[in-house]
Amino acid sequence: MAIDIFKEYLLPKTKVDYIGGKGKVDVAKLLNGQTLFKLSSNENILGSSPKALQAVFNTVNKLSEYPDRTDERLRNKLSTFYDGELNKNQFFINNGGTSLIDLIERAFLEPRNEIIISNPAFIPYAIFAKKWGAKVIDIPLLGDNFDLNVNGILASINDNTRLIFVTNPNNPMGTHIPKNQLDKLIDNLPEHVILVYDEVYHQYVDASNAVRAYEYVKEGKNVIGVNSFSKAYGLAGLRIGYGYSTEKIARYIAQACTPFMINTLALEAAIAALDDVEFINKTVALNATEKIFIYNELDNLGIQYWKTQANFITIKPEINDEELENAMLMEGIMVRPVASFGAPGCVRVTIGDREANTAYLKALKKIVQ
Ligand SMILES: Cc1ncc(COP(=O)(O)O)c(C=O)c1O
Repeated sequence: MAIDIFKEYLLPKTKVDYIGGKGKVDVAKLLNGQTLFKLSSNENILGSSPKALQAVFNTVNKLSEYPDRTDERLRNKLSTFYDGELNKNQFFINNGGTSLIDLIERAFLEPRNEIIISNPAFIPYAIFAKKWGAKVIDIPLLGDNFDLNVNGILASINDNTRLIFVTNPNNPMGTHIPKNQLDKLIDNLPEHVILVYDEVYHQYVDASNAVRAYEYVKEGKNVIGVNSFSKAYGLAGLRIGYGYSTEKIARYIAQACTPFMINTLALEAAIAALDDVEFINKTVALNATEKIFIYNELDNLGIQYWKTQANFITIKPEINDEELENAMLMEGIMVRPVASFGAPGCVRVTIGDREANTAYLKALKKIVQ
C-alpha cells in the first residue's frame, strides 16, 4: 500500500488558514487615487518609532552580512527594559506575535492535547492548534463586559489540557480582563497547564484594575506573556515580537527557534524602539484623546460600541457588517468585520488621528443615517 506522506490539515481542500485584513495596495487599486485610511489592522497611525527607523537606516548597508547568530542582544535589552525583574533567559524572540503563538503551540501541543480559548478571540490560537492536531475548547467570554468565565475554564481542564489563551486587552472587542479574574484563574491552574497571556496592545491600557503578564511570571507562575513590536512601536512590517515566561518555559520554547531567524533590520529596530519612550507616550496620548472623540460621535449617531483599552473601537451597527465594510471602502475607509473572531455583526475600527477619525465618522454617518 502507498504510504501517504501528506498531512490532512495542509491539503488545500482542508486547510483553514488565518487570513489577515486586506492590504492597502489591493484596495488602493479599486479607488482610483482617492485618499485611503486603513483602519482595519490596528497599525500605528503615527508610523514607526523614529529611533527604530534611525537604527534601520544605520544598518541598511550591512545586509550582505548575516544577522547576529542569536537574539541575545535584544534579550539583554528586554531584561533592562523590565528593570532587571526578568532575566535574559526568560525571553524568547520570534517574527511577531502571530509566529510566537505558532511557536508556543508547536512547542507544547501533541495531537491528543487540548487548548482552551474564550471567544471572541484572536483567530490564530484555534487555527494553529488545529494544525498541530490539538482539540480546541471554547469557553466564551461572558456578558456585555466580556468577562472571563473562570469557573467554566477551570471545569474544562483535564489531563490533556496544555494551553489556555487570554487576550488582554481583547481583540476584537477592546475590553480587558480585570486582575481579580486572572488571579483566580492562575491561582487554580494545575501544573501541566500554561496560561498564554496575549498582551500585544498593553501600552494602550488605562484601566486601574489591569495587570500585566510579568506580574505573574515574576511570581514563578506558568504564564507566558506575548508581546509585539507591530502595534504601539509601529513596526508591523518588520515582523518581530517577544514572549517571556519562567526560565524553564522560555528556554524550552527557544529550543524550537532556528539560528539567524531574526533579521538584522528587525533586531536593530526592536532594540532601538525599546528606548523610544517619547514615541510611545505620544502614541498613547493621541489614542486616549481620540477614543473620547470617537465615543462622543458614536453616541451622537446612536451606534452600539464597546469602550476600549486598545487602539481600536468595535461597533455593532444595525446594518450588515460586510455591507458596512464595502460601503466604507467606497468612501476610502478600510474597516474590519470580526464575525470570524466570534463577534457576529461587529466591525473593528482602528483609532487614527483626527483627520482619519473625522473621515471615518463622516463616512459612517453617511452610510447609517
Ligand atoms: C491579539 C493579537 N495578538 C497577536 C497579534 C499578532 O501581531 P503580530 O504578528 O503583528 O506581532 C495581533 C495582531 O493583530 C493581535 O491582535
